[in-house]
Amino acid sequence: MDRIRIVGGNELHGVIPISGAKNAALPLMIASLLTDDTLTLENVPHLADVEQLIRILGNHGADISVNGRRERQGESYARTVHFTSRNIVSTTAPYELVSKMRASFWVIGPLLAREGKARVSLPGGCAIGTRPVDLFIEGLAALGANIEIDGGYVNATAPAGGLIGARYVFPKVSVGATHVLMMAATLANGTTVLGNAAREPEVVDLAKCLNAMGAKISGQGTSTVTIEGVRSLSGARHRVLPDRIETGTYAMAVAMAGGDVILEDTEASLLDTALEAIRRAGAEISETNSGIRIVRNGAGIKPVDIVTDPFPGFPTDLQAQFMGLMTRSSGVSHITETIFENRFMHVQELARLGAKISLSGQTAKVEGVSRLKGAPVMATDLRASVSLVIAGLAAEGETMVSRVYHLDRGFERLEEKLTRCGAHVERVSD
Ligand code: UD1
Repeated sequence: MDRIRIVGGNELHGVIPISGAKNAALPLMIASLLTDDTLTLENVPHLADVEQLIRILGNHGADISVNGRRERQGESYARTVHFTSRNIVSTTAPYELVSKMRASFWVIGPLLAREGKARVSLPGGCAIGTRPVDLFIEGLAALGANIEIDGGYVNATAPAGGLIGARYVFPKVSVGATHVLMMAATLANGTTVLGNAAREPEVVDLAKCLNAMGAKISGQGTSTVTIEGVRSLSGARHRVLPDRIETGTYAMAVAMAGGDVILEDTEASLLDTALEAIRRAGAEISETNSGIRIVRNGAGIKPVDIVTDPFPGFPTDLQAQFMGLMTRSSGVSHITETIFENRFMHVQELARLGAKISLSGQTAKVEGVSRLKGAPVMATDLRASVSLVIAGLAAEGETMVSRVYHLDRGFERLEEKLTRCGAHVERVSD
């Protein structure tokens, strides 16, 4: 199994190209099931989760082809992928496929809307809390679906004439449930109004793509989204928005290691709250024509408290990385996680590098230390694993991160992007 070896101490200087967002690409790919026409997505990142979803969509009958790589110094960082689901050959998403990635559960929305039925295994995914599916079930039932759970599967059936537009207010903000309800409602009879909807940029990106396919969605990016049902959707061409989590991760890597880096093909407005926290920690951040420049020269890292929240709050997907950064701050910081109940598995691994962190409920108290020392550590989930890389960049000596398949789920060419900027990071295959 591959491991990542980091020798800390080098500053980062150069340019890092930011990939298309994994969390936007996945729902966009799933939206292709809503039409018998071709949906072309540009800027699709090459990641294990994307490959897994390609297999899942293929199982439902999608014909998928890849071309048009974006080259940079001989490496391809993005792909254009065409999805055509002329006929849906199966409305079942089996356990073997869905258990590997939670987002694959989301096929339930398009399958139900287009075919009138779906049988989808209850999901798996990262081990960061229980992550139930009650909001999906309640929301689809509000659109008239009959839903039963049997033998680990959710069996959903639409009324004879199709799903029916309705008003549904989410009792809790959920990105995935907002994606699914929005997709399902595009082909429902009548108008659907979703209250307390997620406002994440990935929801806005999906709405934009669905509208290009002929849907009638408004209010995306606010907490009330209105979807007027249409009879059918057509194909479209859409560019996946930049990955704000990857952007924030590399910004924190530069803040940690020091240096001067341009994050290319991204937008500061996607992560204002996180960038503000990094600024308060002592880095200079400015916008350039093509992205963001981040500089930290000399000055140390200041302690900053953060609380994760749904967008536009501080993203839970950057919490572990920020904790990595705070391990080297000059004081005490508090990091509070409000989205997932079990998202502190990186704490004990960061402690192996010499970090001083104590947990009290949903808050971690991080006492900054003047030095971290490299050690063998284990990746526990996607975002936790990259926090170990960030800490490793500033640790003395060698940090060896095992179980890097977690990293490969969400970070495209991580070691190459960091190495090009002067970091000592390499993949070691056993
Ligand atoms: C998405 C992101 C993930 C990110 C998360 C929160 C993708 C592929 N994944 O995950 O990276 O960390 O948003 O920003 O886009 N919940 C329920 N019942 C439900 C559904 C969710 O209680 O039916 C809870 C979850 O357990 C969690 C909270 O709602 O506590 C938010 O989860 P949600 O926004 O749904 O996360 P995902 O869409 O799975």
